[in-house]
Amino acid sequence: MTNIIPHQFNISAENRAKQKGHAPMLLWFTGLSGSGKSTIASAVEELLFSKGIHTYVLDGDNVRQGLNKNLSFSPEDRTENIRRIAEVANLMVDAGLVVLAAFVSPYAADRENIKSIVGEDRMVEIFVNTPIAECERRDVKGLYAKARAGEIKNFTGVNAPYEMPTSPDIEINTVNTTVTEAVKRIETFLETKL
Ligand code: PPS
Repeated sequence: MTNIIPHQFNISAENRAKQKGHAPMLLWFTGLSGSGKSTIASAVEELLFSKGIHTYVLDGDNVRQGLNKNLSFSPEDRTENIRRIAEVANLMVDAGLVVLAAFVSPYAADRENIKSIVGEDRMVEIFVNTPIAECERRDVKGLYAKARAGEIKNFTGVNAPYEMPTSPDIEINTVNTTVTEAVKRIETFLETKL
C-alpha cells in the first residue's frame, strides 16, 4: 500500500505471550447453522477461562450486529464477513488472547484466507459436522422452515452451498458426541499448544 510505513513497536507478540503465561491462538469453528458451533465454543471458553486463559468469543451476534452489520449473506458479503473477522481475530491473537470464532464460513477459499491472515501455526480449524437433517430437525431459530418456505434466499445447506473442510484439525459430529465429550477432545488437542 502506498505511503503506509508501519511503525516498529518494541513489545512483541512473544513478549505478551510470556506475560500471559499461555500461547495466543485462534480456534475457528465452522459448520452449518444450528450445528452447535456456538454451544461448543462457549463451553470450551468456560473451561479455558477457568484455567486463567484470556479468552474472547467472536460470533454472529457480536459481529453481524456491529462491525459487519452492512453485510448480507451473498457470496461476496460472506467472503468479506470472514475476511474482516480474520483480521480482527489476528489483532486479538497478536494481543495475546485465545480467540474462539464461530461462523458458518461455508467457503473453503475463505477459510484458507483466514490461515494466511492469522498464520496456520496460530490457528486450529474445528469442523462441527452435524448433518443438515439434524440441524433442520433442531431448527432452534426456525430459519430452516423459513428457508424451505422460500422466505430466506441464500440459506446455507438449503439454497446456498456449504463446502465441507477436507482436513480440519478436529471434526465433531454432534449426533454421536456430547458437548462434554467435544470439549474434552478439544482440550486434549490443545494440551501441547497453549
Ligand atoms: S457466514 O456464512 O459465515 O458469513 O455466516 P455467519 O456470519 O456465521 O452467520 C450465520 C448466522 O446467521 C443466521 N443466518 C444465516 N445463516 C446462513 N445463511 C443465511 N442465509 C442466513 N441468514 C441468517 C443464522 O442464524 C446463522 O447463525 P448460526 O449461529 O450459525 O446458526
